Amino acid sequence: MTSGEIREQFLDFFKNKGHRIVASSPVVPYDDPTLLFTNAGMNQFKDVFLGTGTREYNRAANTQKCIRVSGKHNDLEEVGYDTYHHTFFEMLGNWSFGDYYKKEAISWAWELLTDVWKLPKERLWATVYETDNEAFNFWKTVTDIKHDHILKFGEKDNFWEMGETGPCGPCSEIHINLLEDYDNPIYVNMGSPVCIEIWNLVFIQNFRDADGKLHDLPAKHVDTGMGFERICRVLQKESSNYKTDIFSPMIKVIQSLSGVKYNKMETIVPINVIADHIRTLTFAIGD
Ligand code: GLY
Repeated sequence: MTSGEIREQFLDFFKNKGHRIVASSPVVPYDDPTLLFTNAGMNQFKDVFLGTGTREYNRAANTQKCIRVSGKHNDLEEVGYDTYHHTFFEMLGNWSFGDYYKKEAISWAWELLTDVWKLPKERLWATVYETDNEAFNFWKTVTDIKHDHILKFGEKDNFWEMGETGPCGPCSEIHINLLEDYDNPIYVNMGSPVCIEIWNLVFIQNFRDADGKLHDLPAKHVDTGMGFERICRVLQKESSNYKTDIFSPMIKVIQSLSGVKYNKMETIVPINVIADHIRTLTFAIGD
């Protein structure tokens, strides 16, 4: 399956569940002084979550251009050295604005990954926020994930915030373990390149103010983010995001322009960095 087909299947899946397909916003936010660059699909909907804006739809899906090089979400140091972080990436997302909540978000994520894309259920792991028994129980009742593949983690891993202030809430992540030892929980959230997070389902219900205090929002919302380059790598059965059809044409050109082969760590890392940064610069300058 090509990356183009994967993107289309994601959007079609949510269109069929009543979602409006919306355009990505630019990587430079229009009017948000808390962000240098757009760092998540939910940024363009911040006003809806805060209750200060509305849309003519209450379910949306898209693929959002994101840059993570500063602030709370900064992946710059990992880029090139590992196989799955980027300064620029696409985030596939679906949103509910005060409409469906945890049950549907969990059940549809599972349906897309396991029914449509046929990912091996035994390799999938779900994490939930340590106090979120509701999400924990939905994983047990609306999916057929192995019950011992549902794990609880604390604030660092399972409470998502866009920045120092703003809408936030407990989240439930889906990880895939591509190791031979795939039935072992120890690899989840350990930074392993072969046991990676592929999708984050955020249950937006709070607002963090400038003093760091959490408040309840007027309504509850869903904000999900799936790393497009990561899901392409998994579905294309590659060992690195850079080996997918998203990056491989660029890597071919970089090799031929530089005369350097992509065949050992000393050349793979800088070529990955160049490929990653070209995308970031192109979209940052363009937008
Ligand atoms: N807003 C969801 C995420 O960035 O993971």
